[in-house]
Amino acid sequence: MSHFTLLVGSTLGGAEDLADHLAEKLCDLGHQAVIHTSPQFDHILIEPCHYLLLICSTHGAGDLPDNIQPFSRQLLEQRPDLRGLSYLAVGLGDSSYDTFCQAIRSLDQQLLDCGAMRIGDRLEIDVGQPDLPEILAGHWLDQQLERAGIDR
Ligand SMILES: Cc1cc2nc3c(=O)[nH]c(=O)nc-3n(C[C@H](O)[C@H](O)[C@H](O)COP(=O)(O)O)c2cc1C
Repeated sequence: MSHFTLLVGSTLGGAEDLADHLAEKLCDLGHQAVIHTSPQFDHILIEPCHYLLLICSTHGAGDLPDNIQPFSRQLLEQRPDLRGLSYLAVGLGDSSYDTFCQAIRSLDQQLLDCGAMRIGDRLEIDVGQPDLPEILAGHWLDQQLERAGIDR
């Protein structure tokens, strides 16, 4: 069994719903999953078999949702040493914006800059497309877990 910490950035609730779905899926697969909707740096655990799953939509003109801005500021200002942290990243956005999924791209870069390691492809979901985010993210998660050798 592995442990997943889900940090969510959401304004209208879509990313939060997606996090609920993925947490349920992880639990069904026998893992432990905890969701934080007011993400703080302290929520991150760097331990064996612990993973971070970041799920964030984009608002404004490429901005982070308000609820995840403190987390981003903490990373920028404190520059914590995140070597040893393994994470996955999912963004929700609308490709009609020039700043498509800019928030998850920024957070992803911030984590990499702090030494964390993304263990799979970043998923960017276009909510303007007909496919349901839950279905897309569910398939993606299966692939990433398998590729990373995280037992199902
Ligand atoms: C006012 C507003 C601004 C938005 N700006 C962006 C943007 O800059 N880039 C993007 O990819 N999507 C943008 N979106 C689309 C949202 O990311 C998308 O609707 C997402 O599903 C919202 O997720 P949430 O319900 O978790 O807040 C914007 C949506 C709204 C309502």
